[in-house]
Amino acid sequence: MIISKEVFGKTADGISVDLYTLTNANGVKTRITNYGGIVVSLEVADREGKIDDVVLGYNSLAEYIKDSPYFGAVVGRCGNRIAKGRFTLDGVEYKLAVNNGENHLHGGLKGFDKVVWEAEEVETPEGVGLKLSYLSKDGEEGYPGNLRCVVTYTLTNDNELKINYEAETDKATPINLTHHSYFNLAGEGNGDILGHELMLNADSYTPVDEGLIPTGEIKSVKDSPIDFTEPAAIGSRISQVEGGYDHNYVLNRDNEDLLSLAARVYEQGSGRVMEVYTTEPGVQFYSGNFLDGSLAGKSGEAYGKHYGFCLETQHFPDSPNKANFPSVILNPGEKYSHITVYKFATR
Ligand code: GLA
Repeated sequence: MIISKEVFGKTADGISVDLYTLTNANGVKTRITNYGGIVVSLEVADREGKIDDVVLGYNSLAEYIKDSPYFGAVVGRCGNRIAKGRFTLDGVEYKLAVNNGENHLHGGLKGFDKVVWEAEEVETPEGVGLKLSYLSKDGEEGYPGNLRCVVTYTLTNDNELKINYEAETDKATPINLTHHSYFNLAGEGNGDILGHELMLNADSYTPVDEGLIPTGEIKSVKDSPIDFTEPAAIGSRISQVEGGYDHNYVLNRDNEDLLSLAARVYEQGSGRVMEVYTTEPGVQFYSGNFLDGSLAGKSGEAYGKHYGFCLETQHFPDSPNKANFPSVILNPGEKYSHITVYKFATR
């Protein structure tokens, strides 16, 4: 197990940013930067032992700063959309930054994906890690309270990328942290993900309106192209889903506090399997619908439509405005704590 560090570049305001390389006992390797907590690469073996980088991204910090659709980043203070960027908490109406039509998306104009985190290398019996800390100040992007966040990535010797999210606040605030890697189990830049076989452990989802804001309904996936309770190729019914998949699934869970299986993805050509476990009640399955070939990634290949997919574990979108959804409010004195694991194997 090894961790090494190099300079990745500088932000526009001259802050130096690093790139950490974590290698586990089996040679699985990931590179993570403290700019946005971005997972820049993740190298895992296929069934023959051939290594590929299975996440989309860039080679340089400048490219991430210039234009990135949240490649590999930590997303916060609230992932996904909050309708019209407004919510009321304890009788006070808050107005958040609006950056997606009339709505707030992924934390606003300068979300957690665009800030520099403090980094500390950690070694635990289960693997090597990087502990990232960030203080989001009271009023940042419109959110109330000073929020201290710690996100720890651990590359375990069981070939898992494990993410621990922790936070504390001094005023009640919504919080909904997630991770935005775009995966391609055949290797980044290596075509689209429509042939990947997906299973989602979810019997229902939260339907949305034209602005992708949940209507509040929790609807069964049964008899619809949204249903992935049985493994199916991502592309098998995608033409029946307007715009492609960009849906929040309500996960089937036995125990609210423990990690449970959210998803399993299999790519036949390489034999790679990725399983996702989480303590969160939901997962956003996004099939890379907005990738349009205008961004070229690490291998120089243009990332076309559906060249990667995201499984963003989360509380449901627009929760601050939906009383029937599990609450995203963190109060002073409480500890926010969630875990998500992306586990790799071959078949
Ligand atoms: C999430 C959203 C999508 C899109 C992507 C990033 O998955 O739900 O609509 O914003 O992030 O482009």
